[in-house]
Amino acid sequence: MKRTVLIAVLILSAWAPSRADEGMWLPALISRRIDDMGAKGAHLSAEDIYSINRASLKDAVVLFGSGCTGELVSDSGLLLTNHHCGYSFIQRHSSVEHDYLKDGFWAGCRRDELPNPGLTVSFLERMEDVTAAVLAGYDESMPEAARDSIVARNSAALIKHASDPSKGVKARVEALYYANQYYLFVYRVYRDVRLVGAPPSSIGKFGGDTDNWMWPRHTGDFSIFRIYADADNNPADYSPENVPYVPRKFFRINRGGVKDGDFTLVYGCPGSTREYVMSEEVRYIGEVSDPRKIALRTLRLDIQKKYMAQSQAVRIQYSSKNANVANAWKKWQGESGGIRRLGTVAAKQEYERRFEQWAKGTRYEGLMARLGALYARREPYYLAYEYLNETVRSIEILRFASGVRTALKAGRPVQGLADSFFKDYFQPIDEETFAALMNAFGKDMPEDFQPEYFKRKLASYGSIEAWRDDLFARTLFTDRARVCALDSPEGLSGDPALEMFDAFDSWYTQSLLPVIRDVAKELKQANREYMKAQMEFEPQKEFYPDANLTLRVAYGKVAGYSPADAVQYAPVSTLKGIMEKDNPDVFDYDVPQALRDIYAAGGCENQPVCFLATNHTSGGNSGSPVLDADGNLVGINFDRVWEGTMSDLVFDPDYCRNISLDIRYLLFVVERIGGAAWLLDEMVFTY
Ligand code: ARG
Ligand code: GLU
Repeated sequence: MKRTVLIAVLILSAWAPSRADEGMWLPALISRRIDDMGAKGAHLSAEDIYSINRASLKDAVVLFGSGCTGELVSDSGLLLTNHHCGYSFIQRHSSVEHDYLKDGFWAGCRRDELPNPGLTVSFLERMEDVTAAVLAGYDESMPEAARDSIVARNSAALIKHASDPSKGVKARVEALYYANQYYLFVYRVYRDVRLVGAPPSSIGKFGGDTDNWMWPRHTGDFSIFRIYADADNNPADYSPENVPYVPRKFFRINRGGVKDGDFTLVYGCPGSTREYVMSEEVRYIGEVSDPRKIALRTLRLDIQKKYMAQSQAVRIQYSSKNANVANAWKKWQGESGGIRRLGTVAAKQEYERRFEQWAKGTRYEGLMARLGALYARREPYYLAYEYLNETVRSIEILRFASGVRTALKAGRPVQGLADSFFKDYFQPIDEETFAALMNAFGKDMPEDFQPEYFKRKLASYGSIEAWRDDLFARTLFTDRARVCALDSPEGLSGDPALEMFDAFDSWYTQSLLPVIRDVAKELKQANREYMKAQMEFEPQKEFYPDANLTLRVAYGKVAGYSPADAVQYAPVSTLKGIMEKDNPDVFDYDVPQALRDIYAAGGCENQPVCFLATNHTSGGNSGSPVLDADGNLVGINFDRVWEGTMSDLVFDPDYCRNISLDIRYLLFVVERIGGAAWLLDEMVFTY
């Protein structure tokens, strides 16, 4: 009797739909999730999603560049991704006469499309478990170094065998589950990718950093490219002779849109997650690293904000820098807050206690203690390293000094470097930042962790401010003419900015790096064991591998959330909300006149703009296709809500939401703002 109940419970827990919508699944193993997906509303088979024998959804998804995702939407190579993914390419084509970032760009026909040297898109041809081949010749009695070299040698052979440079076929062997498994990924890489269209930044980046990581969102975050191929549809360098690539599969567009509760699937390339790490790593991130880095960046952002408010010129100079600093700053706040709210550290500790009980008498006995000791040993060194990055290496003049010297050593001219540095440099900000950051360094770093150089300087000057004043007075790097006159690195060694940069650099390489590197080696091995052990500890649980920029499927549904007591967010935003935010005096909310006019003419208040869903995504999923239950395109993923950014470590179904552009807003902007209806003619709609 007891046994039957136990078996029934086991079967039920294996078959019940997974709690919530956590997971970034490997496409080749999606058959294991297909029942759960079906239970949540999908009408797709595993073969529809991933097949190597016939065209499947995966054939319409690409890794765009080296950190975003894109999707095919026509039989002539038309590709969609985010505006922020195409940003640097749009920028490179821009000049004062043609400011495509500001005004947008719309090719009038295929001849107008702009080539982008260096930009590639990678199609996944197939993925394959190669664990046995990668570990051939290895047995567990061997030392770690032997394992590393066997893995490297076997991987190189597999890669060589699977690659075909003449056809643009590139292979990679990726470690999954902390190197308990290895997969071969074979890609076809196209390298003639042209810019077709981009909205003005006042649409593509609407809301800027004010709205970044936030809901309600109204950003038209898309750009349009086209893949070109040679006459045989193979990858080729740019040539006017190339023709539009004919994909095996492209997405049809569902103009019916989405509503609360609808099934959604995100198919893309999330970059990096750490869902299975020990409580100690999560505690470090949530309670030490994130709060400290947030505090340091708050100092910088406050100083920037103060000067930006005083001058239009400074605001322009620092808007992009400010955006970069603020992006992670905002994300970390959501991450540490989410970890705190969820009690993730305590929950992991509880799990670890149960794990240790189970591990008694097995080869995993003592593993938690080993891991804990490694994290403890690493922590002060790693924190010091993070401080180095967020203080010394964030002082503009020091970085510039080092960059100029590198260029001179390589025999490169420094004029261009100097131009772009001084164009956006406001020295009072940097001076105040220097004092704020270095004071924080002195206050926060334990005495025995401070470099001798730092202590010496502080002792001889009496204060950070006096040190700073002298450094800025004596360095040549604040003087554009003197920098431009440099033609060799000779004679730079006495410069106080370089001296400081170098002193901290050698502190890093001599005092921090050896320990960090040592521990990393041991952690790699211990985490590999811990991952394996967790899979044995919970044999009924389906583990998805941590993200590593390989193609994944995440599924969920359209849903709002409640960010705070008495606040409820609806999942769909509309054009009405854009007009509510409209403010010509606020850069981030300055709606383009063309859009104001369309709105004023009436009839499109309810035009959908963005929507929220419960898909488990991460950085790298930007530009990913968001598909409906039948695999048709309904949106383009571009962000998460900040209260859910701890999903890189722990997923909370109540707060974790991805943010997507509604595909209908893309169609609206292409046609009515871009006047590029010819692009819609190539797309295929479900009705
Ligand atoms: N938060 C998104 C990401 O992590 C979008 C960043 C670009 N947009 C911006 N306003 N900075 O990449
Ligand atoms: N904006 C992110 C990206 O560029 C996606 C947002 C996220 O981190 O989920 O990949």
